[in-house]
Amino acid sequence: MTSIVQLKDINEINGNCDVIHLIADRSAVQELGFSEAEANYVKEVFQQKEKIVVVNHYTHQSIVVLVPDTTKLEKKEKLRLLGKDVCARINAMKKDEVEVDGSRVSEEQTVCFLEGLVLANYQFLTYFSDAKKIENSLVEVGVKGLSEKQVGELSTVLEGVYLCRDLVNEPVITLDAVELADRFTKLGREAGLSVEVFDKDQITDLGMGGLLGVNYGSEIPPTFSIMEWKPEGAKNENPIVMVGKGVVYDTGGLSLKPTANSMDLMKSDMGGAATVFSSIYTAARLNLPVWIVALVPATDNRPGKNAVTPGDVLEMYNGKTVEVKNTDAEGRLILADGLSYGDKYKPELMMSWATLTGAAAYSIGPTAAVMMGDADPEVKAKLMEAGEEVHERMVEFPFWSDYDEEIKSDIADISNLGGAWGGAITAGKFLKNFTDHAYIHVDIAGPCFLTAPRGYNPKGGSGYGVRALVNFFKKY
Ligand code: BES
Ligand code: ZN
Ligand code: ZN
Repeated sequence: MTSIVQLKDINEINGNCDVIHLIADRSAVQELGFSEAEANYVKEVFQQKEKIVVVNHYTHQSIVVLVPDTTKLEKKEKLRLLGKDVCARINAMKKDEVEVDGSRVSEEQTVCFLEGLVLANYQFLTYFSDAKKIENSLVEVGVKGLSEKQVGELSTVLEGVYLCRDLVNEPVITLDAVELADRFTKLGREAGLSVEVFDKDQITDLGMGGLLGVNYGSEIPPTFSIMEWKPEGAKNENPIVMVGKGVVYDTGGLSLKPTANSMDLMKSDMGGAATVFSSIYTAARLNLPVWIVALVPATDNRPGKNAVTPGDVLEMYNGKTVEVKNTDAEGRLILADGLSYGDKYKPELMMSWATLTGAAAYSIGPTAAVMMGDADPEVKAKLMEAGEEVHERMVEFPFWSDYDEEIKSDIADISNLGGAWGGAITAGKFLKNFTDHAYIHVDIAGPCFLTAPRGYNPKGGSGYGVRALVNFFKKY
């Protein structure tokens, strides 16, 4: 697993390495122990609207970062982006250690700056034969201005994001459905979750026809992972259940995807699974007082010799039948089983997280996820707000009954394919057929896997959703 930069709380800046000073106001430059010439220089550069100034001393450098003067939310995100800029400078100088002095700004602002710094330092190096050459040099940050507890909690959340990115970046040849369940079991138990995994026989006995159907073309059996965090004194009487799409690779099946520009990204089709797992894992490690269940149906989707065909009808876990018109709309088939299984928990909130549709990605791009559902508007607003605060934003799409017309089938209860428009919504509407509880569906096809770096998120798995969910649980 990729390890994050070690964050250590320190009482005093010792100045043996480069020091990053966070300041909220230009006048604070006076307090940084600079010579008059240095202080004047820094103030002059800040006058030119720069937010980062580097001062070279003989022994080390000081990097002064000025908190942008804007709204509270925007300030937080700009600080994360400044963290990313500083990260690039430190790595360019091949430094392995820095100190951050956050004592002149709010704790929240220091946290945001560090978030950006650490998230930008991520590199997925598992498969380079000579990883050392390209490794970011930064490994340790001393932090003044946060308590040991705050530094620990921040590290735990960022480790959750790193874990999610690692899982998404891992190719299917090493991370198939069985291996995914094994990792959930090992990591989950270490964090204090109870974990159970159903194998193919159990999945067959339970009648999870969607998961089995998608798996027909595969050499590797499906898995169904159940992770539960049920702390004593949990605030909720009924759990929050999250189902994550665990398609470890999506070729499209017999409705094969074109290779260029679409199939090549599809190792990331278990992004929903990675997000729900990484967030319940983090909630457990933070000992959050919320009862949460994460369910992951997992398989690859391939055109093997007995693969499910367009025209087949599958019977799902809850007894409803589905006409498979397109085998590339496989996510909803496995999620259907996950959701109807999840109803057993009588959740007070049911969620699905999935890289479900190209339509969601095209409509909003990598900048946000598409969310929808019939949960209480207040609960939806809380989730969106939790995302907004960490800059993992969501856009709500309508969930009107008009769209139900689009997924009618002539020969089964429902079809897995909608019409030409509203593809993200008809997919969500399909899923609602499989849960009777207050429901939110989050389609992360846009932000989950980046084809170019965005801010402090490098190319590849972004870890989108982990910080939003953990923040949502914290405030629940
Ligand atoms: N995994 C894809 C959706 C996807 C597309 C995720 C691009 C990330 C980036 C999903 O299984 C899929 O293929 N959906 C089809 C559905 C269609 C056949 C109704 C799509 O969106 O084209
Ligand atoms: Zn597909
Ligand atoms: Zn898919």
